[in-house]
Amino acid sequence: MTFLTLTKIQKSFGPVQVVRDFDMTIEKGEFISFLGPSGCGKTTILRMIAGFETPSGGNININGKTQANLKPNQRNIGMVFQAYALFPNMNVFDNVAFGLKIAGKPAAEIESRVKEMLGLIRLDHLADRFPYQMSGGQQQRVALARALAPKPQVLLLDEPLSALDAKIRVSLREEIRMIQQQLGITTVFVTHDQEEALSISDRIVVMNAGRADQIGTPFDIYNKPATRFVASFVGTLNLIEATVVDPAANRVSIGDQGITLREPLGAVKAGDKVSLALRPEAGSIAEGAKGDTALTGEVVSSNFLGSVIRTRMKVGDAVISFDMFNAPGLKPPAVGEIATLRFTASDLLIIRE
Ligand SMILES: Nc1ncnc2c1ncn2[C@@H]1O[C@H](COP(=O)(O)OP(=O)(O)O)[C@@H](O)[C@H]1O
Ligand SMILES: [Mg+2]
Repeated sequence: MTFLTLTKIQKSFGPVQVVRDFDMTIEKGEFISFLGPSGCGKTTILRMIAGFETPSGGNININGKTQANLKPNQRNIGMVFQAYALFPNMNVFDNVAFGLKIAGKPAAEIESRVKEMLGLIRLDHLADRFPYQMSGGQQQRVALARALAPKPQVLLLDEPLSALDAKIRVSLREEIRMIQQQLGITTVFVTHDQEEALSISDRIVVMNAGRADQIGTPFDIYNKPATRFVASFVGTLNLIEATVVDPAANRVSIGDQGITLREPLGAVKAGDKVSLALRPEAGSIAEGAKGDTALTGEVVSSNFLGSVIRTRMKVGDAVISFDMFNAPGLKPPAVGEIATLRFTASDLLIIRE
């Protein structure tokens, strides 16, 4: 069931348009991530959903109701920000109770709801602590509990993990996802971190300069990037420039190596350039491999990254990265060696936009 609909949303600040023709329908209980670089309009869209900014055009609808004339406090939306925006002079209990008190709930109901929320974030034992007595990760869990306590119809999270260190970030994102699923709450999560978005979302919106470049499942966004922007932003994709040799036969060359693509080239002519994408994990080293699913080049670097070894190889003007899983006895090719990378035909995508 569609729960949150954004229709043709526009937003300008003075002469500068920062959100354009933004369309999106979000299902009840869905976890959506807005993924994009800094300044692409993610926060602005969240703020419009929450009612802190007014769209310059378009409409926002939640649970069948237009939000156009509703103030933020009439929208029943929970929000968590990057900086731990807890009230510094209130302890954990009072922070979580805040929204319930504002809503005029009776004390007994507040007490039991706050306890429930603190149980949910596993901080029951810290109800008396003040924000300055807690780690960043704990503070963000309290911020989450505070946002959820009034039973909002939508939860908005604006880069809630960006200020935390790497290990906490990973554990807290999993906790957020678990709690979200447990409550079945419709959630929009903003991040500029592709791994974060890929790991916890039902669907991802990849944003580019105020627009949605692609909306899809993590699997689709990663494996079938719709645009060059998505391809380069999500993952460490190789973008390889190839020259069309024979359009009718889908034949291109990369440096002096000819390849027949599986996907039709479409309306191009000999000599045109086309962009091809290849995931670093798509290939493997295969001595003597030849033909349309192999490229040979000189190894220019090899980096041990723990679980994988990332090797870069020069083919014509292109430098192609590929990953090999670490394994005892693995012998990655050495810098300066000539190596052949083999992949499957369907791994080589044509990027058209
Ligand atoms: N109140 C404002 N007045 C003027 N420009 C703004 C305002 N808020 C945001 N912007 C501009 O809008 C663009 C999008 O900002 P924002 O939504 O914060 O991006 P993101 O959250 O993706 O980093 C940026 O160029 C930013 O400078
Ligand atoms: Mg932002």
